[in-house]
Amino acid sequence: MSRNNNNPLIQKIAKQAYMTFKGLKCSANGDSKVFAEKQDKLVSLVTPLRAADLKIAPRKNKSTSGTSEPDSPPVTYMHICETDVFSMGIFLLGTGASIPLHDHPGMNGMLKVLYGKVSISCFDKQESCQTASAAPPCFETPVAPFQNASLRRSLLRSVDEYSENSGPCLLTPLRDNLHQIDAVDGPAAFLDILAPPYDPDDGRDCHYYKVLKTVADPDIPVMNNQELQEDDKGKEKEKWLLEIPQPEDFWCGGEPYPGPVVSV
Ligand SMILES: [Fe+2]
Repeated sequence: MSRNNNNPLIQKIAKQAYMTFKGLKCSANGDSKVFAEKQDKLVSLVTPLRAADLKIAPRKNKSTSGTSEPDSPPVTYMHICETDVFSMGIFLLGTGASIPLHDHPGMNGMLKVLYGKVSISCFDKQESCQTASAAPPCFETPVAPFQNASLRRSLLRSVDEYSENSGPCLLTPLRDNLHQIDAVDGPAAFLDILAPPYDPDDGRDCHYYKVLKTVADPDIPVMNNQELQEDDKGKEKEKWLLEIPQPEDFWCGGEPYPGPVVSV
């Protein structure tokens, strides 16, 4: 992939993201042929993207800010651009940091690691749990009656590791729409494209979840991605999720994006 200072790769990615997702209905699952071709083009541009293209580099300290301040954020976001069609930015994760399990309602997405390594657990939200066959099992920590409305049946589809040499991780409104992202073996950063952007006023707010451990599955861990990976790699498995407030140990700081200017 040639690097042209007058037309940087990230600018090409932004233009292609706009073309790929423009006019795509929120409810579409992205499986039409035309969309697939446009998405393939976007994947081919995003795959060779590296940290140096965006003028970022791994940071030595535990925090993403490069300092050892105790109150520095575990995760930092660098905003690149946003239109009504898509948003694009960079998430920086400090050593050991996680972005807890969350959803992207009605949205498509593409995540490309820029440096370091992340483990991503992807879930599908299942249909309504009102049918008898979908009755919730017994959970190791009982769910209070008032929490029943916050229970979600889901399918754990994959737990995989991604590095800068991996292709992007994709999500659609119906497939892999929920994910948890853990930094592995040091700090990590990834480009995040979401289409359309989060917009609570249009039904696209971010919700957080925790995986519930069931009595019937004593070996299934509660939340840890590494343990999930060992237990569930390569298998699709039903999981029950509880919608929770944003975890107290997770918050996201902000920093200016230092890379090439992007205009869409
Ligand atoms: Fe996400």
